[in-house]
Amino acid sequence: MDKLIIVGNNKLKGSIKVHGSKNAALPILVSSLLSDKNLILRNIPNVDDIDNMLKLLRGFGAKISTNNKSITINNRSLKNISADYDIVRKMRASVLILGPLLSRFGYSKISLPGGCAIGTRPVDIHLDGLSKLGAKFKIENGFIIGNVKNKLIGNKIKLSFPSVGATENILMASVLAKGETIIDQAAREPEIQDLGNCLIAMGAKIEGLGSRKIYIQGVDNLKTAKHTIISDRIVAGTYIILAIMLNCKFEVKNVNTHHIKSLIDVLKRMGCELNVSNNSVKVSPSKKLKSCNIETAPYPGFPTDLQAQLMALMSIVNGNSQIKETVFENRFMHVPELIRLGGNIRLTKDKAYIKGNQKFKGAQVMASDLRASVSLVLAALCGEGKTVINRVYHLDRGYEKIEKSIGKLGLKIKRVKS
Ligand code: EPZ
Repeated sequence: MDKLIIVGNNKLKGSIKVHGSKNAALPILVSSLLSDKNLILRNIPNVDDIDNMLKLLRGFGAKISTNNKSITINNRSLKNISADYDIVRKMRASVLILGPLLSRFGYSKISLPGGCAIGTRPVDIHLDGLSKLGAKFKIENGFIIGNVKNKLIGNKIKLSFPSVGATENILMASVLAKGETIIDQAAREPEIQDLGNCLIAMGAKIEGLGSRKIYIQGVDNLKTAKHTIISDRIVAGTYIILAIMLNCKFEVKNVNTHHIKSLIDVLKRMGCELNVSNNSVKVSPSKKLKSCNIETAPYPGFPTDLQAQLMALMSIVNGNSQIKETVFENRFMHVPELIRLGGNIRLTKDKAYIKGNQKFKGAQVMASDLRASVSLVLAALCGEGKTVINRVYHLDRGYEKIEKSIGKLGLKIKRVKS
């Protein structure tokens, strides 16, 4: 398993262009299962989760061709359409194939996703919503097997929680269902809006994207479409926090700054010097940064996927901060590792109390999940001495070879293959 070797006390200069959003590209790739026509996608990020999703789709018989940053995918002739445990355990987004396959073929079989480092992550909201459209499910030998008698029928569905994945699954399933579907208490994340816009380009009839209520009129089939994936707001936020921690003049380009408003508001409250335009954030060295208290929440609240990164910043500013994690039940896996790097953080069930004015110092640490791993990179780059980060495959799931993307900006970070 690869390791990252990082030497601290870095300075950052210049700018970086943010790559396409993993969490938009994954459901959009899955949405191609709804159609037998070509779907041409641009700005797909070059990360492991995408490779895994393409492998899953190729296993179904998808025809996929790529040239530089665009992918053409055609699902006219699919053969076996069941997703086995090996793929699903690595990538929870595989559960999203349920909706499109049930909608187009009336059948789908997928291994139960199992939990992951950040929690049990059940799929009850997915199955409940799809059942309301007429799907019948049974759990057999660790698989979820779904069947539809004739066609899915549109219905009113109120989600018990604005689950991102469940909203995406039900949205895709309802596109070919008969009649109208209303998804109430829908998740509002930009990635869902991007999925919806891609489905509309394919001929779906959808209104209300980004609001709590999404209205879908079922159609009989879809057409060829082209779509450009939005940029990754979490990767953008990560690089903005890095520039602040290294106290440098730096620009993060190609990000829709409306998608990271909650982060920008928090950073300004902490006294960060930010010059924000529509699609870039210029960071300038700030004087004394101060602590703050935040609570993660579904969009447009503060994103849980930036919680670990902000915690690394909170550890070095003046004063004590607090983070309440409300989205996942176990999303503090980075805390013991940040403490090994010199952080001073105390945990209760869903709250972290972060002591400021700490100095990060190099150590051996272990990555545990995608976003936790990147918080260790931030701490190691701004601390002193040498850090070795093990199990870097977690990072590769969502960041394009991070030692190349930020390594070329002069940061002392390299990968050691083992
Ligand atoms: C998506 O996961 C993202 N993944 C996650 O990003 C992100 O953290 C999460 O949304 C929240 O924003 C992708 O888009 C591929 P949820 P998802 O369903 O859809 C509970 C990353 O780092 N829940 O909104 O799985 C669940 O356990 C990843 O890129 C149920 O109880 O998130 C969690 O506590 C990590 N039953 C909460 O809802 C269900 O049926 C939010 O989950 C579904 C979810």
